[in-house]
Amino acid sequence: MRKDGAAAASVSGNTVGKVFLCFETKPLVATLLALTLVMVIWNLQPYYENILSAASRCSASVPFSPTPTMPSLPITATSLAEKKKKKMEEKLTTTDPNKRLFSAYGNAAALFVQMGAYRGGPRTFAVVGLASKPIHVYGRPWYKCEWISNPNNNNNRSSSLKAKAYKMLPDWGYGRVYTVVVVNCTFNVTPNEDNAGGKLILYAYYGESPKRYEKITALEEAPGSYNESKYRPPYQYDYLYCGSSLYGNLSAARMREWMAYHAWFFGESSHFVFHDAGGISAEVEAVLEPWVRAGRVTIQDIRAQAEYDGYYYNQFLVVNDCLHRYRHAANWTFYFDVDEYIYLPDGNTLQSVLNEFSNNTQFTIEQNAMSSVLCLNDSSTRNYSREWGFEKLVFRDSRTKIRRDRKYAIQAKNAYSTGVHMSENVIGGTLHQTETKIRYYHYHNSITVHEELCRVLLPMSAKNNITWFNNLPYVYDDNMKKLIPTIKDFERTSIGSVHLFS
Ligand SMILES: *[C@@H]1O[C@H](CO)[C@@H](O)[C@H](O)[C@H]1NC(C)=O
Ligand SMILES: *[C@@H]1O[C@H](CO)[C@@H](O)[C@H](O)[C@H]1NC(C)=O
Ligand SMILES: *[C@@H]1O[C@H](CO)[C@@H](O)[C@H](O)[C@H]1NC(C)=O
Ligand SMILES: *[C@@H]1O[C@H](CO)[C@@H](O)[C@H](O)[C@H]1NC(C)=O
Ligand SMILES: *[C@@H]1O[C@H](CO)[C@@H](O)[C@H](O)[C@H]1NC(C)=O
Ligand SMILES: *[C@@H]1O[C@H](CO)[C@@H](O)[C@H](O)[C@H]1NC(C)=O
Ligand SMILES: *[C@@H]1O[C@H](CO)[C@@H](O)[C@H](O)[C@H]1NC(C)=O
Ligand SMILES: *[C@@H]1O[C@H](CO)[C@@H](O)[C@H](O)[C@H]1NC(C)=O
Ligand SMILES: *[C@@H]1O[C@H](CO)[C@@H](O)[C@H](O)[C@H]1NC(C)=O
Repeated sequence: MRKDGAAAASVSGNTVGKVFLCFETKPLVATLLALTLVMVIWNLQPYYENILSAASRCSASVPFSPTPTMPSLPITATSLAEKKKKKMEEKLTTTDPNKRLFSAYGNAAALFVQMGAYRGGPRTFAVVGLASKPIHVYGRPWYKCEWISNPNNNNNRSSSLKAKAYKMLPDWGYGRVYTVVVVNCTFNVTPNEDNAGGKLILYAYYGESPKRYEKITALEEAPGSYNESKYRPPYQYDYLYCGSSLYGNLSAARMREWMAYHAWFFGESSHFVFHDAGGISAEVEAVLEPWVRAGRVTIQDIRAQAEYDGYYYNQFLVVNDCLHRYRHAANWTFYFDVDEYIYLPDGNTLQSVLNEFSNNTQFTIEQNAMSSVLCLNDSSTRNYSREWGFEKLVFRDSRTKIRRDRKYAIQAKNAYSTGVHMSENVIGGTLHQTETKIRYYHYHNSITVHEELCRVLLPMSAKNNITWFNNLPYVYDDNMKKLIPTIKDFERTSIGSVHLFS
């Protein structure tokens, strides 16, 4: 369906013509009816198609021809609708025929769409949201913050603190209709120190002029809810996983395996946050449910993000919301995907590796790119359909010195905003030389495959040799496979045997 004004206008005119022809034996009634219809069309534009089809039933055989009364109809209708359409009124009363009018319909993009607002420390807050990208490309929108405290016993009036805000655009260059904005509000004193409660107000300006703005109540703190110790270590968890938007027809079997592996890998003092942009089907939910019940997993429903056209299911928005929502929940926050498995080579432990990295705010992780097609043919002893993904996918792309995507972990307390592959708004260092200490296995294109993954079986000799497949060299790598007995045991003892799969 076209949505431009010209198309709508011609359809309305068409409808009027047909309706008129339909009732031409009773011209007066017909005119009244036609007027009413025009009114209805005017007010219920999206429904004009129904009216059109109803009208064409009685005039189906009559070819459309404009009637002499046509031109007067819209004008009469306009004058009747004037209470609703101020602009139309202006049109009628304008005397200068050269004064042109611009009539706006609909909404392209909001000035600001808030997803979350969080206190990030005693004096600092972050507001995470989306903003119209063209406004940020061609204009100079800006923000201001205010804290309005509730009245307390010493001062029976509410008082106000102002703070400068600075904005970060973490997905600049990727944004679409919307771009992600993180607004940092940092005050000179501690808002709500008396714990009487209060609220954070964000002023969002359309452009340089301070006259046009929207006033947004970004966050409210209830009396007694501020606890300064939340913003200091020790934190609730050692490790937090922030997943980006999940979408598409995800394989429940792969999700189950990923969850079991990482619940084991990160250990008891960790937590996992998933963001459901439509990817968590009933089957996927069923495999995550035991972990949710055990308090290890939180699923955030972000399906409403589909209303706002941003980069890839708004993944930049989601990772920033997660960063600030859990900024003081864990020592380290990890960002990677559900087809990726963090791995420690050479018997390192996560604790020892992270202690070594602890002087850095973040570190990036290199990938081992795995084939999601190649398996080893020793079918005499194995049944592939019973095996887990990372049990049977044992061929690694052996090219070195090519650039591949990296994933990362961050000490969120030192980060102000973040991206998908690393953060560029942090205090403190970033470490990249980590490949001998920590890596991740990436099973690209395996997470939405529902049929058997082993689509090409290589002979046993491929175990000790380079195999060329689609012009890429693969070598056998069973590091992940070797962990399988441990992970399956761990899953059994943690959540019992899982129902759907063996
Ligand atoms: C505030 O109100 C309380 C009771 O309503 C009163 O006792 C107190 O003196 C007032 N304080 C000030 C600073 O006005
Ligand atoms: C603040 O939180 C800490 C731990 O997070 C807790 O021990 C303490 O009792 C809390 N204080 C108040 C006043 O609630
Ligand atoms: C997390 O931080 C606390 C306090 O800084 C520290 O005692 C603990 O060892 C850290 N945990 C890990 C796994 O690094
Ligand atoms: C971290 O930095 C401090 C001070 O520069 C230094 O004493 C310490 O050895 C460093 N720790 C590591 C693990 O590099
Ligand atoms: C797998 O190996 C068996 C026995 O060695 C052989 O009969 C079979 O043809 C092989 N399958 C494929 C797809 O290579
Ligand atoms: C392999 O396992 C699947 C699922 O458990 C089963 O349906 C199939 O019959 C098994 N195939 C063989 C050859 O054992
Ligand atoms: C806001 O920025 C300041 C530095 O300018 C930083 O100290 C603070 O942690 C930031 N707050 C948040 C919530 O990111
Ligand atoms: C997802 O994949 C499964 C297995 O192939 C299929 O049964 C199901 O209909 C798919 N769901 C959607 C929404 O496409
Ligand atoms: C490795 O492959 C080459 C050529 O593909 C072959 O000549 C050689 O025999 C193979 N070696 C082993 C150990 O299978």
